[in-house]
Amino acid sequence: MKKIANLEQIPANGCFVAELDGKKIALHNVDGKIYASDTQCTHMGGPLCKGKILQGKYVQCPWHGATFDLETGEVMSGPTKKPIKVYKVKVEKNEVLIEE
Ligand code: FES
Repeated sequence: MKKIANLEQIPANGCFVAELDGKKIALHNVDGKIYASDTQCTHMGGPLCKGKILQGKYVQCPWHGATFDLETGEVMSGPTKKPIKVYKVKVEKNEVLIEE
């Protein structure tokens, strides 16, 4: 696993775009649980970090409403069938690590 951010960089119930090896990854803080996903929606590239969190683990794209499961990347609804990539996250002390 690789360190991608410090915990305090991710706002409470917010999102932070971090970079690892030149790739942007969205870190979502949902009631203290951290999820890591692609930053761009698979429909037309909408910014998932600006999306709404639904039912504690789904992110809704702000552009046309595609909704993805942050645990699996699966599409729950919306105008795309293509899942997003999600990453396994581990928090150690104040460091956020992800598995690529
Ligand atoms: S770009 Fe995300 S739903 Fe269209």
